[in-house]
Amino acid sequence: MKEILIQNAQLVNEGKVFQKDLLIRGEKIEKIEDSIVPLGHEKCIDATGLHLLPGWIDDQVHFREPGLTHKATIASESRAAVAGGITSFIEMPNTQPQTTTQKALEDKLQVAAKDSIANYGFLFGGTNDNLKEIKSFDTRLAAGLKLFLGSSTGNMLVDNEEVLRKIFSSTDLPIAVHCEDESTITENLEQHIDQYGDDIPIEKHPEIRSEAACYRSSSRAIELAKATGARLHVFHISTAVETALFSNTQPLSEKKITAEVCVHHLWFSEEDYPKKGPLIKWNPAVKKASDREALWKALNEDKIDILATDHAPHTLEEKQNPYTKAPSGGPLVQHAYPALLTAVKQGKTSLEKLVEKACHNPAILFKIQNRGFLRQGYYADLVLVDLQKKNTVAKEDLLYQCGWSPFEGTTFEASIVKTFVNGNLVYNEGEILESALGKKLTFER
Ligand code: DOR
Repeated sequence: MKEILIQNAQLVNEGKVFQKDLLIRGEKIEKIEDSIVPLGHEKCIDATGLHLLPGWIDDQVHFREPGLTHKATIASESRAAVAGGITSFIEMPNTQPQTTTQKALEDKLQVAAKDSIANYGFLFGGTNDNLKEIKSFDTRLAAGLKLFLGSSTGNMLVDNEEVLRKIFSSTDLPIAVHCEDESTITENLEQHIDQYGDDIPIEKHPEIRSEAACYRSSSRAIELAKATGARLHVFHISTAVETALFSNTQPLSEKKITAEVCVHHLWFSEEDYPKKGPLIKWNPAVKKASDREALWKALNEDKIDILATDHAPHTLEEKQNPYTKAPSGGPLVQHAYPALLTAVKQGKTSLEKLVEKACHNPAILFKIQNRGFLRQGYYADLVLVDLQKKNTVAKEDLLYQCGWSPFEGTTFEASIVKTFVNGNLVYNEGEILESALGKKLTFER
Protein backbone atom coordinates (compact mmCIF):
# COMPACT_ATOMS: atom_id res chain seq x y z
CA MET A 1 0.00 0.00 0.00
CA LYS A 2 1.24 3.50 -0.87
CA GLU A 3 2.87 5.43 1.99
CA ILE A 4 3.64 9.14 2.23
CA LEU A 5 5.66 10.54 5.11
CA ILE A 6 5.24 14.24 5.90
CA GLN A 7 8.15 15.35 8.05
CA ASN A 8 8.81 18.42 10.18
CA ALA A 9 5.50 20.19 9.63
CA GLN A 10 3.74 22.20 12.32
CA LEU A 11 0.48 20.31 12.82
CA VAL A 12 -2.65 22.22 13.82
CA ASN A 13 -5.19 20.04 15.56
CA GLU A 14 -7.61 19.98 18.50
CA GLY A 15 -6.53 23.28 19.97
CA LYS A 16 -2.78 22.84 19.55
CA VAL A 17 0.04 23.68 17.16
CA PHE A 18 2.94 21.23 17.45
CA GLN A 19 5.73 19.76 15.37
CA LYS A 20 5.36 16.07 14.51
CA ASP A 21 5.75 13.72 11.55
CA LEU A 22 2.65 12.22 9.95
CA LEU A 23 2.57 9.00 7.96
CA ILE A 24 -0.17 8.37 5.39
CA ARG A 25 -0.79 4.72 4.50
CA GLY A 26 -3.30 4.17 1.71
CA GLU A 27 -6.31 6.39 2.42
CA LYS A 28 -5.72 6.89 6.12
CA ILE A 29 -3.44 8.51 8.66
CA GLU A 30 -1.27 5.63 9.86
CA LYS A 31 0.55 7.44 12.65
CA ILE A 32 1.51 10.82 14.07
CA GLU A 33 4.74 10.80 16.07
CA ASP A 34 7.56 13.07 17.17
CA SER A 35 9.87 11.52 14.63
CA ILE A 36 9.08 8.77 12.12
CA VAL A 37 12.14 7.20 10.54
CA PRO A 38 11.56 6.39 6.86
CA LEU A 39 12.05 2.75 5.91
CA GLY A 40 12.90 3.52 2.30
CA HIS A 41 9.66 2.69 0.46
CA GLU A 42 7.70 5.82 1.49
CA LYS A 43 7.49 9.01 -0.51
CA CYS A 44 8.96 11.62 1.89
CA ILE A 45 7.90 15.25 1.97
CA ASP A 46 10.06 17.65 3.96
CA ALA A 47 7.53 20.17 5.24
CA THR A 48 9.94 22.28 7.28
CA GLY A 49 8.45 25.76 7.66
CA LEU A 50 4.96 24.63 6.60
CA HIS A 51 1.78 23.98 8.59
CA LEU A 52 -0.27 20.81 8.18
CA LEU A 53 -4.02 21.27 8.74
CA PRO A 54 -7.03 19.02 8.29
CA GLY A 55 -8.88 19.70 5.04
CA TRP A 56 -11.74 22.17 5.43
CA ILE A 57 -15.18 20.52 5.44
CA ASP A 58 -17.36 23.16 3.80
CA ASP A 59 -20.94 22.63 4.95
CA GLN A 60 -22.55 25.01 2.46
CA VAL A 61 -21.78 25.06 -1.25
CA HIS A 62 -23.85 25.40 -4.42
CA PHE A 63 -22.20 23.44 -7.24
CA ARG A 64 -25.21 23.91 -9.57
CA GLU A 65 -25.51 20.41 -10.91
CA PRO A 66 -27.90 19.25 -12.25
CA GLY A 67 -29.64 21.90 -14.29
CA LEU A 68 -27.53 25.03 -13.80
CA THR A 69 -24.32 23.78 -15.35
CA HIS A 70 -23.79 26.98 -17.33
CA LYS A 71 -22.76 28.43 -13.90
CA ALA A 72 -20.72 25.54 -12.50
CA THR A 73 -20.44 21.77 -12.25
CA ILE A 74 -19.47 19.34 -9.52
CA ALA A 75 -16.35 18.55 -11.58
CA SER A 76 -15.20 22.17 -11.93
CA GLU A 77 -16.00 23.42 -8.42
CA SER A 78 -14.65 20.37 -6.58
CA ARG A 79 -11.31 21.02 -8.31
CA ALA A 80 -11.42 24.67 -7.25
CA ALA A 81 -12.22 23.44 -3.73
CA VAL A 82 -9.18 21.17 -3.39
CA ALA A 83 -6.95 23.93 -4.82
CA GLY A 84 -8.23 25.94 -1.87
CA GLY A 85 -7.68 23.19 0.74
CA ILE A 86 -11.36 22.22 0.98
CA THR A 87 -11.35 18.43 0.93
CA SER A 88 -15.05 17.73 1.63
CA PHE A 89 -18.21 19.65 0.79
CA ILE A 90 -21.90 19.54 1.58
CA GLU A 91 -23.92 20.74 -1.38
CA MET A 92 -27.29 22.52 -1.43
CA PRO A 93 -30.60 21.36 -2.92
CA ASN A 94 -31.49 24.45 -5.02
CA THR A 95 -30.51 22.80 -8.30
CA GLN A 96 -32.80 21.87 -11.20
CA PRO A 97 -34.47 19.59 -10.43
CA GLN A 98 -34.39 20.50 -6.75
CA THR A 99 -33.03 17.82 -4.42
CA THR A 100 -36.39 17.15 -2.82
CA THR A 101 -36.87 13.47 -3.65
CA GLN A 102 -34.75 10.40 -2.99
CA LYS A 103 -34.35 9.92 -6.74
CA ALA A 104 -32.93 13.45 -7.20
CA LEU A 105 -30.56 12.84 -4.29
CA GLU A 106 -29.39 9.51 -5.74
CA ASP A 107 -28.83 11.16 -9.13
CA LYS A 108 -26.61 13.82 -7.54
CA LEU A 109 -24.66 11.19 -5.63
CA GLN A 110 -24.04 9.38 -8.92
CA VAL A 111 -22.70 12.50 -10.63
CA ALA A 112 -20.45 13.24 -7.66
CA ALA A 113 -19.15 9.64 -7.59
CA LYS A 114 -17.85 9.98 -11.15
CA ASP A 115 -16.86 13.68 -11.19
CA SER A 116 -15.92 14.96 -7.73
CA ILE A 117 -12.27 15.16 -6.76
CA ALA A 118 -13.29 16.15 -3.20
CA ASN A 119 -15.40 14.15 -0.74
CA TYR A 120 -19.08 14.95 -1.07
CA GLY A 121 -22.35 15.08 0.81
CA PHE A 122 -25.72 16.67 0.06
CA LEU A 123 -28.57 18.29 1.92
CA PHE A 124 -32.11 17.14 1.15
CA GLY A 125 -34.42 20.07 0.40
CA GLY A 126 -37.65 20.74 2.23
CA THR A 127 -40.50 22.56 0.48
CA ASN A 128 -44.10 23.45 1.22
CA ASP A 129 -45.17 20.14 -0.29
CA ASN A 130 -42.64 17.32 0.15
CA LEU A 131 -43.27 16.29 3.77
CA LYS A 132 -43.95 12.73 2.61
CA GLU A 133 -40.52 12.51 0.94
CA ILE A 134 -38.81 14.04 4.00
CA LYS A 135 -40.35 11.39 6.20
CA SER A 136 -39.55 8.48 3.91
CA PHE A 137 -36.17 9.06 2.22
CA ASP A 138 -33.09 7.04 3.23
CA THR A 139 -31.44 9.44 5.66
CA ARG A 140 -28.05 7.73 5.31
CA LEU A 141 -27.84 9.34 1.87
CA ALA A 142 -27.93 12.96 3.09
CA ALA A 143 -26.05 15.11 5.59
CA GLY A 144 -29.30 16.72 6.73
CA LEU A 145 -32.17 18.90 5.55
CA LYS A 146 -32.06 22.39 4.07
CA LEU A 147 -34.93 24.85 4.29
CA PHE A 148 -35.06 28.27 2.70
CA LEU A 149 -37.03 30.42 5.15
CA GLY A 150 -36.30 33.38 2.87
CA SER A 151 -36.36 33.16 -0.91
CA SER A 152 -33.08 33.04 -2.80
CA THR A 153 -31.80 31.38 -5.98
CA GLY A 154 -34.08 28.48 -6.92
CA ASN A 155 -37.63 29.21 -5.64
CA MET A 156 -37.46 26.99 -2.58
CA LEU A 157 -39.19 29.22 -0.05
CA VAL A 158 -40.91 27.31 2.76
CA ASP A 159 -43.48 29.78 4.08
CA ASN A 160 -46.27 27.49 5.26
CA GLU A 161 -46.09 27.64 9.08
CA GLU A 162 -48.01 24.41 9.48
CA VAL A 163 -45.66 22.50 7.16
CA LEU A 164 -42.65 24.03 8.86
CA ARG A 165 -43.78 22.85 12.27
CA LYS A 166 -44.39 19.36 10.88
CA ILE A 167 -40.92 19.23 9.29
CA PHE A 168 -39.28 20.41 12.51
CA SER A 169 -41.21 17.77 14.48
CA SER A 170 -40.59 14.89 12.11
CA THR A 171 -36.83 14.47 11.83
CA ASP A 172 -33.70 13.94 13.93
CA LEU A 173 -31.49 15.15 11.10
CA PRO A 174 -29.77 18.50 11.36
CA ILE A 175 -32.06 21.11 9.77
CA ALA A 176 -29.99 23.83 8.12
CA VAL A 177 -31.93 27.01 7.46
CA HIS A 178 -31.53 30.13 5.36
CA CYS A 179 -33.13 32.81 7.53
CA GLU A 180 -34.45 36.06 6.03
CA ASP A 181 -38.04 37.11 6.64
CA GLU A 182 -39.82 37.16 3.29
CA SER A 183 -42.51 39.74 4.06
CA THR A 184 -39.91 42.20 5.40
CA ILE A 185 -37.80 41.77 2.25
CA THR A 186 -40.80 42.15 -0.08
CA GLU A 187 -41.92 45.33 1.64
CA ASN A 188 -38.41 46.83 1.54
CA LEU A 189 -37.97 45.85 -2.10
CA GLU A 190 -41.26 47.41 -3.14
CA GLN A 191 -40.32 50.70 -1.47
CA HIS A 192 -36.98 50.74 -3.26
CA ILE A 193 -38.51 49.86 -6.64
CA ASP A 194 -40.96 52.76 -6.18
CA GLN A 195 -37.99 55.04 -5.68
CA TYR A 196 -35.42 53.68 -8.16
CA GLY A 197 -37.17 51.29 -10.56
CA ASP A 198 -35.20 48.11 -11.41
CA ASP A 199 -31.78 49.72 -11.18
CA ILE A 200 -31.59 50.04 -7.40
CA PRO A 201 -28.06 51.07 -6.27
CA ILE A 202 -26.28 47.99 -4.91
CA GLU A 203 -25.49 49.87 -1.68
CA LYS A 204 -29.20 49.53 -0.84
CA HIS A 205 -29.01 45.71 -0.79
CA PRO A 206 -28.50 45.57 3.02
CA GLU A 207 -31.48 47.90 3.48
CA ILE A 208 -33.67 45.53 1.44
CA ARG A 209 -32.25 42.26 2.79
CA SER A 210 -32.15 44.03 6.14
CA GLU A 211 -30.95 43.30 9.65
CA ALA A 212 -34.61 43.12 10.73
CA ALA A 213 -35.36 40.51 8.04
CA CYS A 214 -32.49 38.35 9.32
CA TYR A 215 -33.31 38.75 12.99
CA ARG A 216 -37.05 38.07 12.60
CA SER A 217 -36.47 34.90 10.64
CA SER A 218 -33.59 33.52 12.77
CA SER A 219 -35.40 34.16 16.03
CA ARG A 220 -38.59 32.56 14.67
CA ALA A 221 -36.67 29.45 13.53
CA ILE A 222 -35.01 29.19 16.94
CA GLU A 223 -38.37 29.53 18.70
CA LEU A 224 -39.77 26.73 16.59
CA ALA A 225 -36.73 24.53 17.19
CA LYS A 226 -37.09 25.04 20.94
CA ALA A 227 -40.79 24.21 20.78
CA THR A 228 -40.31 21.06 18.69
CA GLY A 229 -36.90 19.83 19.90
CA ALA A 230 -35.49 19.99 16.35
CA ARG A 231 -31.71 20.03 15.70
CA LEU A 232 -31.39 23.45 14.07
CA HIS A 233 -28.35 24.87 12.29
CA VAL A 234 -28.71 28.50 11.18
CA PHE A 235 -26.67 29.15 8.07
CA HIS A 236 -24.75 32.34 7.23
CA ILE A 237 -25.42 34.63 10.18
CA SER A 238 -24.72 38.18 8.99
CA THR A 239 -25.69 40.61 11.77
CA ALA A 240 -24.53 41.53 15.25
CA VAL A 241 -28.05 41.26 16.71
CA GLU A 242 -28.42 37.63 15.64
CA THR A 243 -25.26 36.59 17.48
CA ALA A 244 -27.11 37.13 20.77
CA LEU A 245 -29.51 34.32 19.80
CA PHE A 246 -26.81 31.66 20.20
CA SER A 247 -25.14 30.30 23.28
CA ASN A 248 -21.67 29.06 24.18
CA THR A 249 -22.49 27.29 27.43
CA GLN A 250 -22.48 23.75 26.03
CA PRO A 251 -20.00 21.79 23.92
CA LEU A 252 -21.01 21.55 20.27
CA SER A 253 -21.89 17.85 20.54
CA GLU A 254 -24.63 18.76 23.06
CA LYS A 255 -26.02 21.85 21.34
CA LYS A 256 -29.39 21.65 19.61
CA ILE A 257 -29.13 25.10 18.06
CA THR A 258 -26.01 26.13 16.19
CA ALA A 259 -24.84 28.83 13.83
CA GLU A 260 -22.59 29.24 10.83
CA VAL A 261 -20.74 32.28 9.52
CA CYS A 262 -19.42 32.63 5.98
CA VAL A 263 -16.13 33.93 4.69
CA HIS A 264 -17.67 36.88 2.81
CA HIS A 265 -19.48 38.17 5.89
CA LEU A 266 -16.17 38.09 7.77
CA TRP A 267 -14.18 39.71 4.97
CA PHE A 268 -16.34 42.34 3.28
CA SER A 269 -18.52 45.15 4.66
CA GLU A 270 -20.86 47.82 3.29
CA GLU A 271 -17.79 49.91 2.53
CA ASP A 272 -16.88 47.49 -0.27
CA TYR A 273 -20.09 47.93 -2.34
CA PRO A 274 -18.88 51.00 -4.30
CA LYS A 275 -15.80 49.10 -5.51
CA LYS A 276 -17.11 45.54 -5.87
CA GLY A 277 -20.72 46.24 -6.85
CA PRO A 278 -22.88 43.18 -7.63
CA LEU A 279 -19.88 40.85 -7.23
CA ILE A 280 -20.50 41.03 -3.47
CA LYS A 281 -24.28 40.81 -3.69
CA TRP A 282 -25.17 37.90 -1.43
CA ASN A 283 -28.26 36.71 0.43
CA PRO A 284 -28.06 37.49 3.30
CA ALA A 285 -26.40 40.78 2.39
CA VAL A 286 -22.93 41.87 3.46
CA LYS A 287 -23.71 44.46 6.16
CA LYS A 288 -21.93 47.00 8.36
CA ALA A 289 -18.29 46.82 9.51
CA SER A 290 -19.69 46.66 13.07
CA ASP A 291 -21.66 43.52 12.12
CA ARG A 292 -18.50 41.97 10.74
CA GLU A 293 -16.65 42.70 14.01
CA ALA A 294 -19.50 41.17 16.03
CA LEU A 295 -19.38 38.02 13.85
CA TRP A 296 -15.65 37.63 14.55
CA LYS A 297 -16.33 38.08 18.26
CA ALA A 298 -19.13 35.50 18.27
CA LEU A 299 -16.94 33.05 16.35
CA ASN A 300 -14.08 33.47 18.80
CA GLU A 301 -16.47 33.13 21.75
CA ASP A 302 -18.01 29.93 20.32
CA LYS A 303 -21.48 31.39 19.86
CA ILE A 304 -20.89 30.64 16.17
CA ASP A 305 -19.82 27.06 15.58
CA ILE A 306 -18.99 26.66 11.90
CA LEU A 307 -17.09 28.47 9.16
CA ALA A 308 -18.31 27.93 5.60
CA THR A 309 -18.29 29.54 2.17
CA ASP A 310 -21.84 29.44 0.74
CA HIS A 311 -19.92 29.16 -2.56
CA ALA A 312 -22.63 30.17 -5.05
CA PRO A 313 -21.32 30.92 -8.53
CA HIS A 314 -23.23 32.80 -11.23
CA THR A 315 -21.90 33.94 -14.59
CA LEU A 316 -20.42 37.42 -14.81
CA GLU A 317 -23.07 38.27 -17.39
CA GLU A 318 -25.85 37.34 -14.91
CA LYS A 319 -24.18 39.33 -12.13
CA GLN A 320 -23.99 42.45 -14.29
CA ASN A 321 -27.77 42.75 -14.70
CA PRO A 322 -29.60 45.64 -12.98
CA TYR A 323 -30.20 45.08 -9.23
CA THR A 324 -33.55 43.29 -9.40
CA LYS A 325 -32.25 40.79 -11.98
CA ALA A 326 -28.69 40.30 -10.73
CA PRO A 327 -28.54 37.01 -8.80
CA SER A 328 -27.01 36.84 -5.34
CA GLY A 329 -23.97 34.69 -4.63
CA GLY A 330 -20.37 34.31 -5.68
CA PRO A 331 -17.59 31.74 -5.94
CA LEU A 332 -15.40 31.25 -2.85
CA VAL A 333 -14.09 27.71 -2.33
CA GLN A 334 -10.66 28.32 -3.89
CA HIS A 335 -9.98 31.28 -1.59
CA ALA A 336 -11.63 30.56 1.74
CA TYR A 337 -8.59 29.03 3.47
CA PRO A 338 -6.12 31.66 2.13
CA ALA A 339 -8.53 34.43 3.22
CA LEU A 340 -9.01 33.01 6.70
CA LEU A 341 -5.30 32.26 7.12
CA THR A 342 -4.73 35.90 6.24
CA ALA A 343 -7.24 36.86 8.93
CA VAL A 344 -5.28 34.69 11.37
CA LYS A 345 -2.13 36.61 10.50
CA GLN A 346 -4.05 39.84 11.06
CA GLY A 347 -4.92 38.64 14.57
CA LYS A 348 -8.68 38.22 14.02
CA THR A 349 -8.64 34.63 15.23
CA SER A 350 -6.13 31.87 15.92
CA LEU A 351 -5.01 29.01 13.70
CA GLU A 352 -6.44 26.58 16.25
CA LYS A 353 -9.85 28.32 16.18
CA LEU A 354 -9.89 28.34 12.37
CA VAL A 355 -9.26 24.59 12.26
CA GLU A 356 -11.88 23.98 14.96
CA LYS A 357 -14.57 25.91 13.06
CA ALA A 358 -13.72 24.85 9.50
CA CYS A 359 -12.66 21.23 10.02
CA HIS A 360 -13.49 19.71 13.43
CA ASN A 361 -16.91 21.25 13.97
CA PRO A 362 -18.59 20.36 10.66
CA ALA A 363 -17.54 16.75 11.34
CA ILE A 364 -19.02 16.89 14.84
CA LEU A 365 -22.22 18.69 13.85
CA PHE A 366 -23.10 16.49 10.87
CA LYS A 367 -21.69 13.35 12.57
CA ILE A 368 -19.32 12.76 9.65
CA GLN A 369 -17.35 9.58 10.20
CA ASN A 370 -13.53 9.58 10.45
CA ARG A 371 -12.81 13.00 9.02
CA GLY A 372 -12.12 16.55 10.16
CA PHE A 373 -9.23 15.77 12.54
CA LEU A 374 -5.56 14.78 12.36
CA ARG A 375 -6.02 11.45 14.08
CA GLN A 376 -4.59 8.03 13.58
CA GLY A 377 -7.06 5.89 11.61
CA TYR A 378 -8.88 8.89 10.16
CA TYR A 379 -8.93 9.62 6.43
CA ALA A 380 -5.85 11.56 5.32
CA ASP A 381 -7.67 14.73 4.19
CA LEU A 382 -4.83 17.16 4.67
CA VAL A 383 -3.61 20.58 3.61
CA LEU A 384 -0.04 21.85 3.71
CA VAL A 385 0.02 25.63 3.92
CA ASP A 386 2.78 28.22 3.77
CA LEU A 387 2.03 31.09 6.12
CA GLN A 388 4.93 33.11 4.72
CA LYS A 389 4.06 32.88 1.04
CA LYS A 390 1.89 35.70 -0.26
CA ASN A 391 -0.43 35.09 -3.17
CA THR A 392 -2.32 37.60 -5.27
CA VAL A 393 -5.58 36.32 -6.77
CA ALA A 394 -5.34 36.52 -10.57
CA LYS A 395 -8.02 35.74 -13.13
CA GLU A 396 -5.83 33.23 -14.97
CA ASP A 397 -5.45 31.11 -11.80
CA LEU A 398 -9.17 30.77 -11.13
CA LEU A 399 -10.58 27.26 -11.41
CA TYR A 400 -14.23 28.32 -11.06
CA GLN A 401 -16.19 27.66 -14.21
CA CYS A 402 -17.68 31.16 -13.97
CA GLY A 403 -14.16 32.60 -14.33
CA TRP A 404 -14.36 35.46 -11.83
CA SER A 405 -13.79 36.01 -8.11
CA PRO A 406 -14.70 38.84 -5.73
CA PHE A 407 -11.08 38.52 -4.51
CA GLU A 408 -9.36 39.28 -7.84
CA GLY A 409 -6.41 41.57 -7.12
CA THR A 410 -6.42 40.74 -3.40
CA THR A 411 -3.13 39.61 -1.90
CA PHE A 412 -3.48 36.87 0.69
CA GLU A 413 -0.78 36.41 3.32
CA ALA A 414 -0.72 32.61 3.00
CA SER A 415 -0.77 29.98 0.26
CA ILE A 416 -2.03 26.43 -0.13
CA VAL A 417 0.93 24.25 -1.07
CA LYS A 418 -0.50 20.72 -1.25
CA THR A 419 -3.89 19.10 -0.68
CA PHE A 420 -4.46 15.41 0.03
CA VAL A 421 -7.90 13.79 -0.22
CA ASN A 422 -8.15 10.26 1.18
CA GLY A 423 -4.35 10.04 1.15
CA ASN A 424 -4.07 11.06 -2.51
CA LEU A 425 -2.17 14.18 -3.50
CA VAL A 426 -4.76 16.02 -5.61
CA TYR A 427 -3.30 19.53 -5.61
CA ASN A 428 0.37 20.44 -5.76
CA GLU A 429 1.60 24.03 -5.98
CA GLY A 430 -0.81 25.36 -8.56
CA GLU A 431 -1.60 22.08 -10.28
CA ILE A 432 -4.56 19.75 -9.97
CA LEU A 433 -3.48 16.11 -10.06
CA GLU A 434 -6.15 13.72 -11.25
CA SER A 435 -4.86 10.99 -8.95
CA ALA A 436 -8.17 9.80 -7.51
CA LEU A 437 -11.81 10.76 -7.00
CA GLY A 438 -13.40 11.79 -3.69
CA LYS A 439 -15.68 9.59 -1.60
CA LYS A 440 -19.21 9.95 -0.31
CA LEU A 441 -19.23 11.30 3.23
CA THR A 442 -20.75 8.84 5.67
CA PHE A 443 -22.63 9.80 8.81
CA GLU A 444 -23.23 8.16 12.15
CA ARG A 445 -26.93 7.38 11.93
O1 DOR B 1 -26.37 34.59 -2.10
C1 DOR B 1 -26.87 33.47 -2.13
N1 DOR B 1 -26.81 32.71 -3.24
N2 DOR B 1 -27.51 33.01 -1.06
C2 DOR B 1 -28.20 31.85 -1.11
O2 DOR B 1 -28.75 31.48 -0.12
C3 DOR B 1 -28.33 31.09 -2.35
C4 DOR B 1 -27.19 31.35 -3.21
C5 DOR B 1 -27.40 30.80 -4.60
O3 DOR B 1 -27.74 29.62 -4.71
O4 DOR B 1 -27.18 31.52 -5.56
